[in-house]
Amino acid sequence: MALRTIRTEGDPVLSKKCRPVEEITPRIRELITDMLETMYDACGVGLAAPQVGILKRIVVIDVGEGPIILINPEIVESSGEQTGEEGCLSVPGMSGQVTRPNYVKVKALDMDMKEAEYEGEELLARAFCHEIDHLDGKMYTRLVEGELHHVTYDDEEE
Ligand code: NI
Repeated sequence: MALRTIRTEGDPVLSKKCRPVEEITPRIRELITDMLETMYDACGVGLAAPQVGILKRIVVIDVGEGPIILINPEIVESSGEQTGEEGCLSVPGMSGQVTRPNYVKVKALDMDMKEAEYEGEELLARAFCHEIDHLDGKMYTRLVEGELHHVTYDDEEE
């Protein structure tokens, strides 16, 4: 297990499209373990593989209800709307208002390459959207309504 370096905005790896995972190798297992460790160390609620420089479709999320590992995730359903503060470990110290669906259903593979479904509302729905966007090279900053601003003490980083 090791902490990985979190890439920050401006790093070209963050604007690339990631490739699907075809098989769970020991290297992929190690990557996922490292991503979880790196996310917890940075006090984030989500981390996508490109944020540690790996162009694979892998996301880890923990909004305080335990870790969720998503391999090749896809949003299959969404509804409603929420507007709130969003941040990103790749844009440290900043946040901005972003509108996302309030409910999202995600299909993904688990660590055994078995298909699984996840449902999320509010913060979890926001995290699913934010992290899956990373896999297509999309940063939340392009969705910010108004100004990106410095994080205040009660904001959360994703
Ligand atoms: Ni992010």
